[in-house]
Amino acid sequence: MKSIFKDESDLNGMRHAGKLASEVLDFITPHIQEGVSTNTIDRLCHEYMRDIQHTIPAPLNYQPPGYPPFPKSICTSVNDVICHGIPGERVLKSGDIVNLDITVITPDGYYGDTSRMFLVGEASIMSTRLCQITFECMWLGIAQVKPGARLGDIGYVIQTHAEKAGYSVVREYCGHGIGKVFHQDPQILHYGKPGNGESLVEGMTFTIEPMINAGRREIRTMPDLWTVKTKDRSLSAQWEHTVLVTASGVEVLTVSEHSPIPPEIVRPLFGSTFPPKS
Ligand code: MF3
Ligand code: CO
Ligand code: CO
Repeated sequence: MKSIFKDESDLNGMRHAGKLASEVLDFITPHIQEGVSTNTIDRLCHEYMRDIQHTIPAPLNYQPPGYPPFPKSICTSVNDVICHGIPGERVLKSGDIVNLDITVITPDGYYGDTSRMFLVGEASIMSTRLCQITFECMWLGIAQVKPGARLGDIGYVIQTHAEKAGYSVVREYCGHGIGKVFHQDPQILHYGKPGNGESLVEGMTFTIEPMINAGRREIRTMPDLWTVKTKDRSLSAQWEHTVLVTASGVEVLTVSEHSPIPPEIVRPLFGSTFPPKS
């Protein structure tokens, strides 16, 4: 089952969910500091979702086939953790990079899924560049989205930009359709060939969430069966937005007041419709 929404009330439900997910990141941003534990970040986000937004954190107890229930409300992926980092006692230190991945479920059942990278304290030029290139990869992918474009077009621009910078694209995890369920078809690969794969159709909602490694692309999964790290212990970065295919192109759903603005590199691609309507 894919989400292909036509109905304006479904689209408004998805817009609302996207904005709320992004607002959790806005809320937590000032707390991302040296000395703060990932458990504290998780607790603050959980309380904000529960008490202020009245949303449900989708990760909590999420259990796809073959996995144990995810024990926390958000994912915190630090340094060589690629994705699905479980909040715990780890304390952030200067120079760390951390991805916070938020998925909310609104009271009417819509999902919004988004993540950002944060640089803690004094970041190295190397970590800053990895986070920036990955941000550009996500936005280059978003800029491909319009009716009739192919999924391979998205993967191709992401892979090309990452590899040109000397980085690698993680293959085992991908973007996904999203709507009134968390993960559904289609799979949005972050590598591929132009003109290949499924065609995009107006009304589709899915995520673009490239995971880019500074070193080799291979992964290893920790004994908790969730935490995924780079096999070579190189740094990894990820950014994620939920998008809607519109008649004229793309609408980014996971935007809020403090969303980082799209990078220079995509501005020419959006032309007069920049920034993409939300
Ligand atoms: N938010 C992640 C994604 O982008 C999924 C996290 S599943 C969890 O698809 F259980 F680890 F939270
Ligand atoms: Co996602
Ligand atoms: Co996510």
